[in-house]
Amino acid sequence: MTDILPAGVTPMLEIRNIKRDYYVPTGFLKPEKVINALKGVSFKLEAGKTLAIVGESGCGKSTLARILTFIDAPTGGELFIDGKEVDTRPGHLTAAMRQKVQIVFQNPYGSLNPRQKIGDVLGEPLLINTKLSASERRDRANEMLVKVGLGPEHYNRYPHMFSGGQRQRIAIARALMLNPKLLVLDEPVSALDLSVQAQVLNLLSDLQQEFGLTYVFISHDLSVVRYIADEVMVMYYGEAVEYGTREAVFSDPQHDYTRTLFAATPRTDVETIRARMAKRRQSAITA
Ligand SMILES: Nc1ncnc2c1ncn2[C@@H]1O[C@H](COP(=O)(O)OP(=O)(O)OP(=O)(O)O)[C@@H](O)[C@H]1O
Ligand SMILES: [Mg+2]
Repeated sequence: MTDILPAGVTPMLEIRNIKRDYYVPTGFLKPEKVINALKGVSFKLEAGKTLAIVGESGCGKSTLARILTFIDAPTGGELFIDGKEVDTRPGHLTAAMRQKVQIVFQNPYGSLNPRQKIGDVLGEPLLINTKLSASERRDRANEMLVKVGLGPEHYNRYPHMFSGGQRQRIAIARALMLNPKLLVLDEPVSALDLSVQAQVLNLLSDLQQEFGLTYVFISHDLSVVRYIADEVMVMYYGEAVEYGTREAVFSDPQHDYTRTLFAATPRTDVETIRARMAKRRQSAITA
């Protein structure tokens, strides 16, 4: 696998030969079936950069996302955050390490408690992990609401009172409450309308700039990947079949699967939508 990190730079995230096997029962007294969901995946990702992971359904993207965010442990391989090897065995992870990495899922509705006000959703990680007072937690939650394009008026509302795009903003805000270094985003805009996708992608790149965040961005949409990625990994049946800078992968895909994937993808152009939105905003200001 090619090394695309400049020499002498410590990666924010590195995985070496990560494997994950699942053992699925097939019936009484029958041998278990083994699914090799990840067959040895490696990459190095520099701080402040975005690695996009693409591939068809079932190729292991979410499995990898769960391993990177310590929700699931790998069956083999090593994981390093900021140059330190992480002991991923259950019960061995430190709270400090856990806080460095956060995840945003495709469907935030599934991960937001419908009975919890947004202010409490955002305050909860602080309540559990810090000694901040109630008023400090409230201030920080309000601050974060503004950062993600919402406002203090949303503090007392419940999840059902928001649109899909707004709920995704809330999920992003919650992920950022403990100042993580790394965000793993598993299809974060796939369930949103195209124009809302562009807004959330813009927000993510603004936040990346402001907080110096490193992103692992999972998507099946190549136009989104082209827009957001510095580096691209294409996965196929649990393996990385392509890995390189965005320019290299898009201009000269090496693997047959990648060529088929690119050929089969209609180009909905996020850049065009973004330019149109900027124009509309401009005309609204001058009107
Ligand atoms: N808990 C589990 N037990 C058994 N098999 C699993 C489990 N989780 C995932 N798998 C299997 O591992 C493989 C990879 O699944 P994964 O969810 O990582 O794919 P994915 O690339 O995220 O797909 P999608 O694009 O549909 O989200 C699949 O064959 C899946 O059925
Ligand atoms: Mg998935």
